[in-house]
Order: sequence, then C-alpha cells, then structure tokens
Amino acid sequence: MHSYADRAKLAHLFAEEVKLFEANHSKSKDLHERAMGPLMGGVPMSWMAKWPGPHPVYVASAKGSRFRDVDGIEYVDFCLGDTGAMVGHSPDASIKAIAAQLEKGITFMLPTEDAAIVGKTLADRFGLPKWQFTLTATDANRHILRYARHVTGRNKIVVHDYCYHGTVDETFAVLDDQGNTISRENNIGPQVDPSETTIVVPFNDLTAAEIAFATGEVAAMLIEPAMTNIGIVLPESGYLEGLRDLCTKYGVILIHDETHTLSEGPGGMTARRKLSPDAIVMGKTIGAGIPAGAFGMSDNLTNRVQESLHLEHIDVGGVGGTLAGNALSMAAIRATLLEVLTPAAFQKMEALCDVWTADVQRLIDKYGAPWQVSQLGCRAEYSFRAEAPKNGREAADADDFELQQYLHLHALNRGILMTPFHNMALMSPAHTAEDVQRHTQHFEQALESLFA
Ligand SMILES: Cc1ncc(COP(=O)(O)O)c(C=O)c1O
Repeated sequence: MHSYADRAKLAHLFAEEVKLFEANHSKSKDLHERAMGPLMGGVPMSWMAKWPGPHPVYVASAKGSRFRDVDGIEYVDFCLGDTGAMVGHSPDASIKAIAAQLEKGITFMLPTEDAAIVGKTLADRFGLPKWQFTLTATDANRHILRYARHVTGRNKIVVHDYCYHGTVDETFAVLDDQGNTISRENNIGPQVDPSETTIVVPFNDLTAAEIAFATGEVAAMLIEPAMTNIGIVLPESGYLEGLRDLCTKYGVILIHDETHTLSEGPGGMTARRKLSPDAIVMGKTIGAGIPAGAFGMSDNLTNRVQESLHLEHIDVGGVGGTLAGNALSMAAIRATLLEVLTPAAFQKMEALCDVWTADVQRLIDKYGAPWQVSQLGCRAEYSFRAEAPKNGREAADADDFELQQYLHLHALNRGILMTPFHNMALMSPAHTAEDVQRHTQHFEQALESLFA
C-alpha cells in the first residue's frame, strides 16, 4: 500500500513535470541521443540512468554547492555525487594539492610522505591505529572481509537486512518472510547463493545477531552504524554497544562502514558515539572525488593479519591493487582531511542540515503528509512513512518509486538536484542558507500539489 493513494493525480503531476523538463533541456537531450550510440543505456555506467525524467542532465561545470548543466541552468546540489563530493565540488585546497601532485607523478607502487600523515590523521580521528588504502570503499570492504575470514578461519559474514556496502558480493542478501537469508532481488549474476557466505539479521535486533554468531561460522559483522542506503535508520539506544559486546563474546570481527555515516563528524559515528569497532571502512569523499578508500584496524587485528602474511606471495593473495594508495590519492586525502573536512566545517554543515530537516518536518506537518524525516549529522532524508523506521525492511516497505520520481523531477525543474536512490540531502562546507531555502520552497510547492 502506497502512502500516497491518488495515483492518477500523481501520474498527471509527473507528466506535467516531464513536459517542463523537456522544454528546458534540449542540449542535454542532444548529448544523450549521441551517447545512446556507443554507450549501453546512453550512460557511462548503468546507475547514471536512474534519474527522473526522460534522460540525465549533462553537467558543464561545478563548484562548491552548485553545478551548471549544458543548457545553462544552475542547480543547488544536495546529491553531491551520492557523497563522493560531500566536501563540495572541487574545493580549492584539494585542487591545489591534486594539481601539485599531478606535476610530480601519479602512481609509483612506492609510498610518498603524504601516506603516513594521512594514516596518522585517520588514527587520531577514528581511534584505530593502523590504516591501509584502496581506490574505493567497495574494495576496502572486500579487503577487510578477506582479512577477517583469514584470521578467524571462519567463512561467513553477518550483515543487516537491506544493507548496502558497495558491490561486495557477500552483501547482496536479504531476509525472506520466514527469516531465511536469500539473494537480494535483482542481484546480478551472483557466483554462489549468498546464503552460503552470509547470514542476514534485522537492524536493531541483538537477539538475531546473537543467534547468527552462535553458529560459530561467523568471521565478521559488517555494519553501517546507522543504515543510510534504505533511507536513514538510526540505531536504538544500546544497539551498537550491544553488538560490540556480542562480537567480543563470540570472537567476531566488528567492522564499521563509515562511508556515509562520516556525515556525523570528522571521526564519523565511531568517534562521536565513542564506539570501538575492530575495523573501520570509508571512501567516496575523503579524496574530494579522486578515487580513494581506506580501512583502519585495531592493533590486535593488525597483529593477527601481519603474523600470517607471507611477503613472497603478498601481491597475489587477493588483497591489494596496482593503483591502491597511489600518490595522487594520498595527496588528495591529505589536503581534503586537513583543510576541507575540518571539525569547523562539520559544525557548519550540520547546523545547515538542522535547518533543512526542521523545514522539511514543518512542511510535512503543515500538509498532513504521512511522512517523516531523519537526520545524521550533515545528511538527512525523508521517508514515506509516518514514523522513523526501526530496520531495513520497514524502510523498504515504505518505498514509492513513482512518488520519488515526481518529487525529484519537481526539484530538478526548480534548480535542485536530489540523490536518485534516496530522498536525501547532504550539506557540504560550501552550502548556504539560501541553498536550503531553495529546497524548502520546492518542497512546499510539491506538497501543496500533492496534498492541498
Ligand atoms: C555504506 C557504503 N559503503 C560502501 C559503498 C561503496 O562505495 P563505492 O561505490 O565508492 O565503492 C557505498 C556506496 O554507496 C556505501 O553507501
């Protein structure tokens, strides 16, 4: 059952927005028609097809909180490359460091001075002492899961129902109605049935986690400390601490994927909530968009890994990558962490997100929409249900693709970019009160069109 019942009205409203979009995007349309020849679906990667409207808008340039498309329209960007550009587009300090490194060499399979500085910065911020670098958060997740299986000698992992951790094979699993782990709908070409590699448990359910751990088969539990990829699902009081205790009791390695939850501050949810995982993963924005991922480990885990690695075979063990930790990535991360993603920047981003969230909730209340909004630092998202979801299944059940497409196209037609997979807004250090105001105006108009 959809939270918005008048589907005929919704279809009509959407059709009107499509007309408006088409009238204003002739150059994007031309480029898209050209791209349909050599590119599958007309896009360089299939995800880029998931935009509202008949085709994507083509970007001409971007800076800070805004970008301009090839038709000359300027947008406030709340999508920010789905977190890849959470630092804002092309921040000056990162660009300066990246340009300087480009002149000095890009990749060597040898470290530069930046590596130790970046490692120390992450250690200070997140509280884990040892770090390794990859090109993406997906790779960081894959590698830490391999290490976890390697040192525990166990072969399964536990993840949350409706989690997302990148294109990591073992994580494309959900629970069926009977509580069995099954392949996620539309899981493309899995090499084995995910129930062979994975046990799925609901978020906020310590009993289910303990039952999974008690099988003795579990090497690691990979979590986002708050779910952010099926809307925002916040942890109930004591849940994260309870998981920590259970992982210790059963010898399970606890991994926090902070790729998105970094929105809570310079040390993510881990530092802000004084949590103590065995490992932490991140990526996306830490290099300002230059490909970069990282994982940190406790001393204990590091020692267990190092004792069992054989130097002679280190390049063929399944952990690594030719370009991982390259000089350009490290220069980008150093400048981005130290000069852009500063504690002061996080304060500003969160304060602005407080305003975005309060405005959205006020308007939801004003128009009596059966929706709610949740916030996680500088990230906020509304969902089509009246109460905040407790787990991934509750959040997934509230999905309404057509309603989301309408709201996103309505936003786009008024100079606002929302994330295609979410009703989510992210604030960068470059966002302003005026940017938030633009969203508030669009949101009020959209609610009026639906509910007035
Ligand atoms: C929590 C989380 N972890 C990992 C990833 C993977 O990031 P990437 O696609 O950059 O490898 C994502 C991507 O959305 C994510 O949301």
